[in-house]
Amino acid sequence: MTLELGVLVSGGGSNLEAILAAIADGRLDARCRLVLSNRPAVFALERARAAGVPSVVVDHKQYPTRDAFGRAALVELRAHGVEWLALAGFMRVLSADFLAAFPGRVVNIHPSLLPAFPGVAAQKQAYDAGVKLAGCTVHFVDAGVDSGPIIAQSSVPVLESDSAEDLRLRILEQEHVLFPRALQWIAEGRVQVVSRAGARDIVAIAPEGKTSIAEVKER
Ligand code: GRF
Repeated sequence: MTLELGVLVSGGGSNLEAILAAIADGRLDARCRLVLSNRPAVFALERARAAGVPSVVVDHKQYPTRDAFGRAALVELRAHGVEWLALAGFMRVLSADFLAAFPGRVVNIHPSLLPAFPGVAAQKQAYDAGVKLAGCTVHFVDAGVDSGPIIAQSSVPVLESDSAEDLRLRILEQEHVLFPRALQWIAEGRVQVVSRAGARDIVAIAPEGKTSIAEVKER
């Protein structure tokens, strides 16, 4: 299936660029229908323009509530035929009403090995905690902060000589690989959320060539 994708951004947009590059060279079966930024004049908007992708600013500061912002964003996303959302450095929590418009179809990249270090400045949190392994996580978005079912993770070592910035860049490099790849697994229908009594939901991923987990279980 081709993902009709909206990409939500708040800043530099290097993850957006990685997604657009993966679409352009056939690694990701998706169309980027719209890039939506909650902040004006961010570099991600330049990247969208350079790639010829429609973009729009819905400035959250212009709306009195999270819900009002969500409704305005939804109007734009619907008008552009968006069916799936990739949060690529998007720094706002989305309202439950907004998420309900894309049930199970919102995916985020977070720069830590969740559930460790949710929230802002996750790389610095990990650096300050002195962890030896850091990394990034692609996960489905639920109403919590960085708390939905985990789709994929990449780890990177933390070196003794690292500055916090060195670590941030090493994680970011992995984000650019992991996010398009996880989206492609979804496009291939290989991703399924599995509920477990008394435990967190997990994501099962069918091996390459199998279109669904159900198909794998049947054999
Ligand atoms: C990334 O590290 C992302 O995981 C985090 O914010 C950063 C945004 O980078 N949420 P970019 O805007 O994609 O360059």
